[in-house]
Amino acid sequence: MKVSCSVVVFALVFHFFLVTGSRSPPPSDSVIIIGAGMSGIMAAKTLEEAGYKDYIILEADSRIGGRVHKGQVDGNTVEMGANWLFSGGPKSSPAHEIAKKIKLRTLYSDYGNLSSNIYKQGGGLYEKHVVESAFKVADARQEFGTNLSKILSSKKGGDDDISILGSQRLFKQVPKGPLDLAVDYFYNDFEEAEPTRISSLKNTFPRQLMEDFGEDSYFVADPRGFETVVHYIANQFLSHNNNKITDPRLQLKKHLENELPGENMIFVTVTDEESRRIEQQSEKKTKAEIMQVLKKMFGNGKQIPEPDTMLIPKWWSNRLYKGSYSNWPNGYTLHSYHDLQQPFGRIYFAGEHTNSTYLGYVDGAYFSGTFRSPSDSLYPLLGRAT
Ligand SMILES: Cc1cc2nc3c(=O)[nH]c(=O)nc-3n(C[C@H](O)[C@H](O)[C@H](O)COP(=O)(O)OP(=O)(O)OC[C@H]3O[C@@H](n4cnc5c(N)ncnc54)[C@H](O)[C@@H]3O)c2cc1C
Ligand SMILES: *[C@@H]1O[C@H](CO)[C@@H](O)[C@H](O)[C@H]1NC(C)=O
Ligand SMILES: *[C@@H]1O[C@H](CO)[C@@H](O)[C@H](O)[C@H]1NC(C)=O
Ligand SMILES: *[C@@H]1O[C@H](CO)[C@@H](O)[C@H](O)[C@H]1NC(C)=O
Repeated sequence: MKVSCSVVVFALVFHFFLVTGSRSPPPSDSVIIIGAGMSGIMAAKTLEEAGYKDYIILEADSRIGGRVHKGQVDGNTVEMGANWLFSGGPKSSPAHEIAKKIKLRTLYSDYGNLSSNIYKQGGGLYEKHVVESAFKVADARQEFGTNLSKILSSKKGGDDDISILGSQRLFKQVPKGPLDLAVDYFYNDFEEAEPTRISSLKNTFPRQLMEDFGEDSYFVADPRGFETVVHYIANQFLSHNNNKITDPRLQLKKHLENELPGENMIFVTVTDEESRRIEQQSEKKTKAEIMQVLKKMFGNGKQIPEPDTMLIPKWWSNRLYKGSYSNWPNGYTLHSYHDLQQPFGRIYFAGEHTNSTYLGYVDGAYFSGTFRSPSDSLYPLLGRAT
């Protein structure tokens, strides 16, 4: 699972690109990489390994890592962007492999006991068996969707698609009522960060990242932050000193650091319209709304203490991001997607959104900055590099 407080999706926004210096550049031609997120750093590493040393990385922000970024709440490190790593599948996630190498502290997200931990809107827990039957229906609904998606995909060259909600309608099991809706949010919106009426069934089910890397999710809880994974890659080829990149080819706006461990935190996830609403209202109003929910859930005559601090990441309002991560909407064709991946003259595109296999994830960004497979968006550069 991913997504975090106050997130929203902008489908397929270009985050950065590569510009090459000439039509068929020998390795000495200069390359500009725009953006030092996971994909930009990987693109630089790819170029370095292919013999292009004459590149510069321009990053508008004061740091590398992009949407992999830690924040501070009362001196405690929290993740503002990417939170979860995945494992348990037949392939290994490059981000998770690096995290293991650098011994990043992670917590297994145990969803096994969820049925005993779902609260009613007005307070009190749902009975376990009630939640269990809601999960059973949701499982069948997802399975039906996956089956239907396979049928749609098997139609060669066809653009036929349907929204996830559309498949739920065909299955005659549209979530309704607060419990079903909460379960459906957990199964779908929470992952895509957009509602089921928007998300493409064909390009979402089965979730390839989970199929390949596994569904076991590990929550990064390390004072060094998830961003250390990006730093680890950068340090392999950019000169650095005391964990600070000193390579003149990396040009940041400015740089700051601070970190500490912590506890006693509540983590809230909102997506889509709700996240846009929250990004735009005062923190005071958000705090009052959270307090109201907590009082209903846990109050029962007890005093609920006010939070000391709140941290609301605002990816949508940030002009460098304009959202949290991409999602594939129903109606967007594979053909349009391939167009999106194509170079524009000498501008090459990388970024999480250019790898449809792992779109929306750190691993997608990682692979988009490589030219391993002909479908990788940087692949055409290989022909020119060799
Ligand atoms: C809230 C949230 C939760 C997430 N949860 C997860 C998760 O649990 N697991 C997971 O795998 N993924 C998760 N993701 C997604 C993951 O963080 C992204 O897919 C990935 O980090 C994107 O990397 P990127 O290199 O494609 O883009 P970015 O990280 O956005 O990098 C783009 C870089 O370009 C810079 N830039 C932008 N415009 C300019 C400009 N004009 N000039 C110069 N520089 C510019 C930006 O500052 C940024 O550094 C989450 C994301 C968010 C926001
Ligand atoms: C499951 O959750 C309930 C309610 O929070 C708790 O009492 C119980 O100990 C949990 N069981 C396990 C196995 O974690
Ligand atoms: C999905 O397909 C499998 C294999 O064909 C089948 O056994 C299963 O019943 C289908 N599930 C649903 C919910 O349609
Ligand atoms: C995404 O990256 C993986 C690993 O390099 C690759 O196998 C896959 O084809 C890529 N997908 C696309 C659509 O570029």
